[in-house]
Amino acid sequence: MAAGRIIARMNPLERAEAAERAMMEELDRVVVKSVIYTSGERDPRQPLERPPDTGKRYMMGHDPRLPRMPAKPTVMDYFNLRFGPTQHLMQSARLAQKNGASEKIVLACLLHDIATTGFIRGDHGYWSAQLVEPYVDPEVSWAIRYHQALRFFPDESVGYSYPQSYIKLFGEDYVPEPYIQRDYQYARDHKWYMSSRLICVNDLYAFDQNVRVELEEFTDVIGRHFKQPEEGLGFDASPSAHMWRTMMWPTKYL
Ligand SMILES: [Fe+2]
Ligand SMILES: [Fe+2]
Repeated sequence: MAAGRIIARMNPLERAEAAERAMMEELDRVVVKSVIYTSGERDPRQPLERPPDTGKRYMMGHDPRLPRMPAKPTVMDYFNLRFGPTQHLMQSARLAQKNGASEKIVLACLLHDIATTGFIRGDHGYWSAQLVEPYVDPEVSWAIRYHQALRFFPDESVGYSYPQSYIKLFGEDYVPEPYIQRDYQYARDHKWYMSSRLICVNDLYAFDQNVRVELEEFTDVIGRHFKQPEEGLGFDASPSAHMWRTMMWPTKYL
């Protein structure tokens, strides 16, 4: 009864934290969240509350609450075992295919939002590009990086208007930050501009709840255009391998 009354008095964040503490007590490892997971919900300057020291070790690898990754993961393993819903990505890629885009563009569409779906949302175009950069043609990662900026600016020559959904999401008066405007200006005059623009064109109409696309549809495109590292994605020595490892082991203490 008393515990029930305490829980009833808690605000949602406290309740979530209590549930999490209960779950951690069941885990045989202590999990400490990265600051960025909760920054904003809590003041990041405050020390993170630690569970009482019961002699447990800290999480230093696989988190048993997540499906285990194979020893040598591929990008498809991340799609299947670590990413959130990916229909948007696969629908975009299929639409690009239907519109006659090259395989490189199809791959760019398939990967364009992987940061949103598996890593970090804010500035997702930059994060997504950085994740895939060592493994794809430079034009593919370039296109992914700049779709971040281009999506805020119309290009009527290819039938791309400012998305209606952004007015709803961000308000009529939303103005992209100066760094987005700068990157838009830069991208507009670049030889790969249209590759990036094609991501936006195929992105916009890719939210159909009734269409179900399977990742296997893109096995060949991935096989031909994504250089799978021999050691497994995350265990190679590329400049973004650690980012893939973080998705594999998101609760690793150090
Ligand atoms: Fe995006
Ligand atoms: Fe998208």
